[in-house]
Amino acid sequence: MTMSDQPIPSLTGWTEAELDAAFAALMREVESSAAALDATSAEAVEAFRLHWLGRKQGRLKAVSDAWLKAAPVEAKKLLGQRFNALKAQVEARLDDASSASSASALDAEAIDITLPGRARRLGAEHPLIKTLNEIVSIFQRMGYSVGVGPEVETDYYNFESLNFPPNHPARDTQDTLVVAQQERKPLRDRLLMRTHTSPVQIRTMEQQPPPVRIVIPGKVHRNDAADATHSPIFHQVEGLCVDTNITFSDLKGTLDHAMKELFGTSVKTRFFPSFFPFTEPSADVQISCPFCGGKGCRKCKHSGWIELLGCGMVDPAVFGFVQQKQPGYDPKKISGFAFGMGVDRIAMMKYGISDIGLLYGGDQRFLEQFG
Ligand code: PHE
Repeated sequence: MTMSDQPIPSLTGWTEAELDAAFAALMREVESSAAALDATSAEAVEAFRLHWLGRKQGRLKAVSDAWLKAAPVEAKKLLGQRFNALKAQVEARLDDASSASSASALDAEAIDITLPGRARRLGAEHPLIKTLNEIVSIFQRMGYSVGVGPEVETDYYNFESLNFPPNHPARDTQDTLVVAQQERKPLRDRLLMRTHTSPVQIRTMEQQPPPVRIVIPGKVHRNDAADATHSPIFHQVEGLCVDTNITFSDLKGTLDHAMKELFGTSVKTRFFPSFFPFTEPSADVQISCPFCGGKGCRKCKHSGWIELLGCGMVDPAVFGFVQQKQPGYDPKKISGFAFGMGVDRIAMMKYGISDIGLLYGGDQRFLEQFG
Protein backbone atom coordinates (compact mmCIF):
# COMPACT_ATOMS: atom_id res chain seq x y z
CA MET A 1 0.00 0.00 0.00
CA THR A 2 1.22 3.47 -0.82
CA MET A 3 0.66 5.49 2.29
CA SER A 4 2.85 8.54 2.62
CA ASP A 5 4.79 9.08 5.78
CA GLN A 6 5.98 12.46 4.58
CA PRO A 7 5.65 15.12 7.22
CA ILE A 8 2.86 17.60 6.69
CA PRO A 9 4.39 20.56 4.78
CA SER A 10 4.24 23.99 6.29
CA LEU A 11 1.66 26.28 4.78
CA THR A 12 2.95 29.12 2.64
CA GLY A 13 0.12 31.40 3.75
CA TRP A 14 -3.52 31.52 4.89
CA THR A 15 -5.29 32.71 1.74
CA GLU A 16 -8.15 30.65 0.38
CA ALA A 17 -6.11 29.68 -2.70
CA GLU A 18 -3.20 28.52 -0.64
CA LEU A 19 -5.48 26.48 1.64
CA ASP A 20 -7.26 24.94 -1.35
CA ALA A 21 -3.98 23.87 -2.89
CA ALA A 22 -2.70 22.39 0.37
CA PHE A 23 -5.92 20.41 1.02
CA ALA A 24 -6.20 19.30 -2.63
CA ALA A 25 -2.79 17.65 -2.27
CA LEU A 26 -4.01 15.80 0.84
CA MET A 27 -7.26 14.76 -0.91
CA ARG A 28 -5.17 13.22 -3.70
CA GLU A 29 -3.15 11.41 -1.09
CA VAL A 30 -6.36 10.03 0.47
CA GLU A 31 -7.61 8.91 -2.95
CA SER A 32 -4.40 7.20 -3.98
CA SER A 33 -4.02 5.37 -0.67
CA ALA A 34 -7.70 4.29 -0.84
CA ALA A 35 -7.27 3.09 -4.43
CA ALA A 36 -4.32 0.94 -3.39
CA LEU A 37 -6.20 -0.50 -0.40
CA ASP A 38 -6.98 -4.24 -0.40
CA ALA A 39 -10.52 -4.04 0.97
CA THR A 40 -10.77 -7.82 1.47
CA SER A 41 -8.08 -7.63 4.15
CA ALA A 42 -9.44 -6.52 7.50
CA GLU A 43 -5.88 -5.69 8.63
CA ALA A 44 -5.26 -3.45 5.61
CA VAL A 45 -8.50 -1.56 6.23
CA GLU A 46 -7.55 -1.07 9.86
CA ALA A 47 -4.07 0.12 8.85
CA PHE A 48 -5.71 2.67 6.52
CA ARG A 49 -7.95 3.87 9.32
CA LEU A 50 -5.02 4.24 11.74
CA HIS A 51 -2.88 5.96 9.10
CA TRP A 52 -5.47 8.69 8.61
CA LEU A 53 -7.57 8.82 11.78
CA GLY A 54 -5.24 7.39 14.45
CA ARG A 55 -5.57 9.57 17.53
CA LYS A 56 -1.85 9.87 18.19
CA GLN A 57 -0.01 9.17 14.93
CA GLY A 58 -2.76 9.71 12.33
CA ARG A 59 -2.19 12.14 9.48
CA LEU A 60 -5.30 14.18 10.32
CA LYS A 61 -3.91 14.67 13.83
CA ALA A 62 -0.65 15.89 12.24
CA VAL A 63 -2.61 18.28 9.96
CA SER A 64 -4.49 19.59 12.93
CA ASP A 65 -1.27 20.10 14.88
CA ALA A 66 0.67 21.67 12.00
CA TRP A 67 -2.04 23.86 10.49
CA LEU A 68 -5.11 24.34 12.66
CA LYS A 69 -3.35 25.10 15.89
CA ALA A 70 -0.90 27.52 14.22
CA ALA A 71 -3.56 29.37 12.23
CA PRO A 72 -4.46 32.97 12.94
CA VAL A 73 -8.04 33.39 14.17
CA GLU A 74 -9.30 34.75 10.77
CA ALA A 75 -8.10 31.62 8.98
CA LYS A 76 -9.55 29.09 11.45
CA LYS A 77 -13.01 28.93 9.88
CA LEU A 78 -11.69 28.35 6.34
CA LEU A 79 -9.22 25.80 7.62
CA GLY A 80 -11.87 24.02 9.71
CA GLN A 81 -14.24 23.65 6.76
CA ARG A 82 -11.50 22.12 4.61
CA PHE A 83 -10.29 19.94 7.42
CA ASN A 84 -13.81 18.55 7.94
CA ALA A 85 -14.19 17.86 4.21
CA LEU A 86 -10.91 15.95 4.25
CA LYS A 87 -12.02 13.91 7.25
CA ALA A 88 -15.38 13.15 5.60
CA GLN A 89 -13.48 11.95 2.53
CA VAL A 90 -11.35 9.56 4.61
CA GLU A 91 -14.46 8.22 6.37
CA ALA A 92 -16.29 7.73 3.06
CA ARG A 93 -13.36 5.66 1.76
CA LEU A 94 -13.37 3.60 4.96
CA ASP A 95 -17.09 2.89 4.57
CA ASP A 96 -16.51 1.74 0.98
CA ALA A 97 -13.72 -0.53 2.14
CA SER A 98 -15.66 -2.15 4.97
CA SER A 99 -18.76 -2.83 2.88
CA ALA A 100 -16.51 -4.38 0.23
CA SER A 101 -14.82 -6.53 2.87
CA SER A 102 -18.10 -7.82 4.33
CA ALA A 103 -19.34 -8.62 0.82
CA SER A 104 -16.21 -10.66 0.28
CA ALA A 105 -16.75 -12.45 3.63
CA LEU A 106 -20.18 -13.48 2.33
CA ASP A 107 -18.50 -14.82 -0.80
CA ALA A 108 -16.01 -16.76 1.30
CA GLU A 109 -18.80 -18.46 3.27
CA ALA A 110 -20.70 -19.04 0.04
CA ILE A 111 -23.97 -17.96 1.58
CA ASP A 112 -26.47 -17.44 -1.18
CA ILE A 113 -29.43 -15.81 0.51
CA THR A 114 -31.64 -16.52 -2.50
CA LEU A 115 -31.39 -20.29 -1.92
CA PRO A 116 -34.23 -22.02 -0.04
CA GLY A 117 -33.34 -22.93 3.58
CA ARG A 118 -31.88 -26.29 4.47
CA ALA A 119 -34.57 -28.55 5.91
CA ARG A 120 -33.42 -30.53 8.94
CA ARG A 121 -35.14 -33.86 9.01
CA LEU A 122 -36.31 -35.22 12.33
CA GLY A 123 -34.63 -38.42 13.44
CA ALA A 124 -36.69 -41.52 14.19
CA GLU A 125 -36.35 -43.85 17.13
CA HIS A 126 -34.78 -47.14 16.06
CA PRO A 127 -37.39 -49.94 16.09
CA LEU A 128 -35.23 -51.96 18.46
CA ILE A 129 -34.86 -49.13 20.97
CA LYS A 130 -38.54 -48.30 20.58
CA THR A 131 -39.46 -51.88 21.49
CA LEU A 132 -36.95 -51.98 24.32
CA ASN A 133 -38.36 -48.76 25.79
CA GLU A 134 -41.89 -50.08 25.44
CA ILE A 135 -41.05 -53.28 27.32
CA VAL A 136 -39.24 -51.35 30.04
CA SER A 137 -42.10 -48.92 30.52
CA ILE A 138 -44.63 -51.76 30.91
CA PHE A 139 -42.63 -52.96 33.89
CA GLN A 140 -42.06 -49.44 35.21
CA ARG A 141 -45.84 -49.08 35.40
CA MET A 142 -45.85 -52.20 37.60
CA GLY A 143 -43.35 -50.55 39.98
CA TYR A 144 -40.08 -51.91 38.57
CA SER A 145 -36.96 -49.77 38.45
CA VAL A 146 -34.41 -49.92 35.61
CA GLY A 147 -30.79 -51.02 35.85
CA VAL A 148 -27.80 -51.59 33.60
CA GLY A 149 -24.57 -53.55 33.77
CA PRO A 150 -21.35 -54.04 31.79
CA GLU A 151 -21.22 -55.79 28.42
CA VAL A 152 -17.68 -57.04 29.10
CA GLU A 153 -18.29 -59.30 32.05
CA THR A 154 -16.33 -61.70 34.25
CA ASP A 155 -16.82 -65.45 34.21
CA TYR A 156 -18.00 -65.13 37.80
CA TYR A 157 -20.99 -62.91 37.06
CA ASN A 158 -21.89 -64.36 33.67
CA PHE A 159 -21.67 -68.00 34.83
CA GLU A 160 -20.38 -69.03 38.23
CA SER A 161 -22.66 -66.91 40.45
CA LEU A 162 -25.58 -67.95 38.27
CA ASN A 163 -24.89 -71.53 39.29
CA PHE A 164 -23.06 -72.63 36.12
CA PRO A 165 -20.18 -74.59 37.71
CA PRO A 166 -16.84 -74.69 35.81
CA ASN A 167 -17.06 -77.19 32.94
CA HIS A 168 -20.82 -77.51 33.34
CA PRO A 169 -22.38 -78.47 29.97
CA ALA A 170 -24.95 -75.64 30.27
CA ARG A 171 -22.11 -73.22 29.53
CA ASP A 172 -21.84 -74.67 26.03
CA THR A 173 -25.38 -73.56 25.18
CA GLN A 174 -24.28 -69.93 25.48
CA ASP A 175 -21.71 -69.84 22.61
CA THR A 176 -19.53 -67.46 24.57
CA LEU A 177 -17.16 -64.96 22.96
CA VAL A 178 -14.20 -64.68 25.33
CA VAL A 179 -11.66 -61.88 25.65
CA ALA A 180 -8.17 -63.06 24.56
CA GLN A 181 -5.18 -63.57 26.88
CA GLN A 182 -7.06 -64.16 30.11
CA GLU A 183 -5.55 -67.60 30.77
CA ARG A 184 -3.21 -66.45 33.55
CA LYS A 185 -6.13 -65.18 35.63
CA PRO A 186 -8.21 -67.45 37.88
CA LEU A 187 -11.28 -68.64 35.94
CA ARG A 188 -13.70 -66.44 37.86
CA ASP A 189 -11.89 -63.23 36.87
CA ARG A 190 -11.54 -63.98 33.15
CA LEU A 191 -13.33 -61.51 30.89
CA LEU A 192 -15.91 -62.39 28.26
CA MET A 193 -18.71 -60.71 26.35
CA ARG A 194 -21.83 -61.25 28.42
CA THR A 195 -24.05 -63.87 26.80
CA HIS A 196 -27.17 -62.73 28.64
CA THR A 197 -28.33 -59.90 30.92
CA SER A 198 -28.70 -62.29 33.90
CA PRO A 199 -25.31 -61.30 35.45
CA VAL A 200 -26.92 -57.95 36.29
CA GLN A 201 -29.35 -59.85 38.56
CA ILE A 202 -26.37 -60.68 40.78
CA ARG A 203 -24.79 -57.23 40.50
CA THR A 204 -28.11 -55.65 41.50
CA MET A 205 -28.68 -57.90 44.51
CA GLU A 206 -25.09 -57.36 45.68
CA GLN A 207 -25.79 -53.63 45.70
CA GLN A 208 -29.10 -53.61 47.57
CA PRO A 209 -30.89 -55.74 50.15
CA PRO A 210 -34.32 -57.19 49.34
CA PRO A 211 -36.95 -56.33 48.22
CA VAL A 212 -35.96 -55.82 44.54
CA ARG A 213 -38.05 -55.22 41.47
CA ILE A 214 -35.87 -54.35 38.50
CA VAL A 215 -35.70 -54.67 34.74
CA ILE A 216 -32.37 -54.60 32.94
CA PRO A 217 -32.33 -53.89 29.22
CA GLY A 218 -29.09 -54.39 27.30
CA LYS A 219 -26.94 -55.77 24.56
CA VAL A 220 -25.63 -59.32 24.67
CA HIS A 221 -23.18 -61.28 22.52
CA ARG A 222 -22.99 -64.86 21.33
CA ASN A 223 -20.81 -66.63 18.83
CA ASP A 224 -23.70 -67.30 16.45
CA ALA A 225 -23.42 -67.21 12.67
CA ALA A 226 -25.64 -64.43 11.32
CA ASP A 227 -28.75 -65.46 9.40
CA ALA A 228 -32.32 -64.17 9.12
CA THR A 229 -33.09 -65.02 12.75
CA HIS A 230 -29.61 -64.94 14.39
CA SER A 231 -27.21 -62.12 15.05
CA PRO A 232 -24.02 -62.33 17.17
CA ILE A 233 -25.25 -59.16 18.89
CA PHE A 234 -28.80 -58.98 20.17
CA HIS A 235 -30.78 -57.47 23.04
CA GLN A 236 -32.50 -58.77 26.13
CA VAL A 237 -34.64 -57.35 28.88
CA GLU A 238 -33.97 -59.12 32.15
CA GLY A 239 -36.43 -58.98 35.02
CA LEU A 240 -35.94 -59.76 38.70
CA CYS A 241 -38.39 -59.62 41.58
CA VAL A 242 -37.34 -60.67 45.09
CA ASP A 243 -39.43 -60.24 48.23
CA THR A 244 -41.11 -62.31 50.93
CA ASN A 245 -43.67 -64.81 49.63
CA ILE A 246 -43.03 -64.37 45.90
CA THR A 247 -44.54 -67.36 44.13
CA PHE A 248 -44.73 -68.88 40.67
CA SER A 249 -48.27 -67.44 40.41
CA ASP A 250 -46.78 -63.95 40.74
CA LEU A 251 -44.40 -64.78 37.89
CA LYS A 252 -47.25 -66.07 35.70
CA GLY A 253 -49.50 -63.11 36.42
CA THR A 254 -46.73 -60.58 35.81
CA LEU A 255 -45.63 -62.05 32.48
CA ASP A 256 -49.21 -62.67 31.29
CA HIS A 257 -49.99 -59.00 31.96
CA ALA A 258 -46.79 -57.83 30.23
CA MET A 259 -47.51 -59.92 27.11
CA LYS A 260 -51.06 -58.55 26.91
CA GLU A 261 -49.70 -55.00 27.16
CA LEU A 262 -47.18 -55.72 24.42
CA PHE A 263 -49.29 -57.69 21.95
CA GLY A 264 -52.89 -56.90 22.86
CA THR A 265 -55.38 -58.24 25.40
CA SER A 266 -56.47 -61.20 23.29
CA VAL A 267 -53.00 -62.79 23.55
CA LYS A 268 -52.75 -65.85 25.83
CA THR A 269 -49.64 -67.18 27.56
CA ARG A 270 -48.57 -70.71 28.49
CA PHE A 271 -45.63 -71.99 30.52
CA PHE A 272 -43.56 -75.06 29.63
CA PRO A 273 -41.02 -76.79 31.86
CA SER A 274 -37.48 -75.82 30.88
CA PHE A 275 -34.02 -75.63 32.39
CA PHE A 276 -31.75 -72.78 33.44
CA PRO A 277 -29.05 -73.33 36.09
CA PHE A 278 -30.10 -70.18 37.97
CA THR A 279 -33.85 -70.82 38.23
CA GLU A 280 -35.74 -73.71 39.74
CA PRO A 281 -38.31 -74.51 38.54
CA SER A 282 -37.66 -72.98 35.10
CA ALA A 283 -40.07 -72.37 32.26
CA ASP A 284 -40.25 -71.23 28.65
CA VAL A 285 -43.13 -68.89 27.94
CA GLN A 286 -45.14 -69.09 24.77
CA ILE A 287 -47.76 -66.62 23.59
CA SER A 288 -50.68 -67.46 21.32
CA CYS A 289 -49.70 -66.36 17.82
CA PRO A 290 -50.72 -62.69 17.48
CA PHE A 291 -50.80 -63.04 13.67
CA CYS A 292 -53.36 -65.83 13.33
CA GLY A 293 -54.94 -65.69 16.78
CA GLY A 294 -53.73 -69.22 17.49
CA LYS A 295 -55.22 -70.93 14.44
CA GLY A 296 -51.82 -71.66 12.92
CA CYS A 297 -49.91 -69.79 10.20
CA ARG A 298 -46.43 -69.56 8.72
CA LYS A 299 -45.24 -67.17 11.44
CA CYS A 300 -45.98 -69.67 14.23
CA LYS A 301 -44.95 -72.65 12.09
CA HIS A 302 -48.62 -73.75 12.18
CA SER A 303 -48.51 -74.45 15.91
CA GLY A 304 -50.58 -71.44 17.02
CA TRP A 305 -47.91 -70.55 19.63
CA ILE A 306 -44.67 -68.57 19.64
CA GLU A 307 -41.93 -69.02 22.23
CA LEU A 308 -40.79 -65.66 23.57
CA LEU A 309 -38.91 -65.89 26.84
CA GLY A 310 -37.28 -67.88 29.59
CA CYS A 311 -38.09 -67.55 33.26
CA GLY A 312 -38.27 -69.28 36.62
CA MET A 313 -38.02 -68.99 40.39
CA VAL A 314 -34.57 -67.79 41.52
CA ASP A 315 -32.54 -70.88 42.50
CA PRO A 316 -31.57 -70.83 46.22
CA ALA A 317 -27.96 -71.49 45.11
CA VAL A 318 -27.98 -68.05 43.40
CA PHE A 319 -29.07 -66.40 46.67
CA GLY A 320 -26.19 -68.32 48.28
CA PHE A 321 -23.67 -66.55 46.02
CA VAL A 322 -25.30 -63.17 46.67
CA GLN A 323 -25.27 -63.74 50.46
CA GLN A 324 -21.45 -63.47 50.44
CA LYS A 325 -22.10 -59.73 50.06
CA GLN A 326 -25.74 -59.25 51.12
CA PRO A 327 -26.76 -61.59 53.95
CA GLY A 328 -30.38 -60.43 53.60
CA TYR A 329 -30.90 -62.78 50.65
CA ASP A 330 -31.67 -65.72 52.90
CA PRO A 331 -33.54 -68.33 50.82
CA LYS A 332 -35.38 -69.41 53.98
CA LYS A 333 -36.93 -65.96 54.28
CA ILE A 334 -37.26 -64.61 50.76
CA SER A 335 -38.03 -65.90 47.28
CA GLY A 336 -38.09 -64.42 43.83
CA PHE A 337 -38.59 -64.88 40.14
CA ALA A 338 -36.55 -63.87 37.11
CA PHE A 339 -37.16 -63.73 33.39
CA GLY A 340 -35.27 -62.81 30.25
CA MET A 341 -36.75 -61.91 26.90
CA GLY A 342 -35.24 -61.30 23.49
CA VAL A 343 -35.99 -57.74 22.36
CA ASP A 344 -35.04 -58.34 18.72
CA ARG A 345 -37.58 -61.10 18.20
CA ILE A 346 -40.30 -59.05 19.83
CA ALA A 347 -39.43 -56.03 17.63
CA MET A 348 -39.48 -58.26 14.54
CA MET A 349 -42.91 -59.60 15.46
CA LYS A 350 -44.36 -56.20 16.32
CA TYR A 351 -43.14 -54.52 13.12
CA GLY A 352 -43.26 -57.46 10.71
CA ILE A 353 -39.49 -57.50 10.14
CA SER A 354 -38.37 -60.75 8.54
CA ASP A 355 -34.58 -60.41 8.79
CA ILE A 356 -32.85 -59.55 12.08
CA GLY A 357 -29.91 -58.12 10.08
CA LEU A 358 -32.08 -55.15 9.11
CA LEU A 359 -31.98 -54.04 12.74
CA TYR A 360 -28.19 -53.71 12.59
CA GLY A 361 -27.55 -52.69 8.96
CA GLY A 362 -28.19 -48.97 9.40
CA ASP A 363 -29.98 -48.74 6.03
CA GLN A 364 -31.89 -45.44 6.05
CA ARG A 365 -34.52 -46.72 3.62
CA PHE A 366 -35.43 -49.29 6.26
CA LEU A 367 -35.10 -47.01 9.29
CA GLU A 368 -37.05 -44.04 7.96
CA GLN A 369 -40.21 -46.16 7.88
CA PHE A 370 -40.27 -45.85 11.67
CA GLY A 371 -40.25 -42.04 11.68
N1 PHE B 1 -30.63 -65.64 30.69
C1 PHE B 1 -31.47 -66.60 30.01
C2 PHE B 1 -31.06 -66.67 28.55
O1 PHE B 1 -30.43 -65.78 28.05
C3 PHE B 1 -32.93 -66.22 30.10
C4 PHE B 1 -33.47 -66.27 31.50
C5 PHE B 1 -33.40 -65.13 32.32
C6 PHE B 1 -34.02 -67.41 32.01
C7 PHE B 1 -33.89 -65.17 33.58
C8 PHE B 1 -34.52 -67.46 33.31
C9 PHE B 1 -34.45 -66.34 34.10
O2 PHE B 1 -31.37 -67.62 27.88
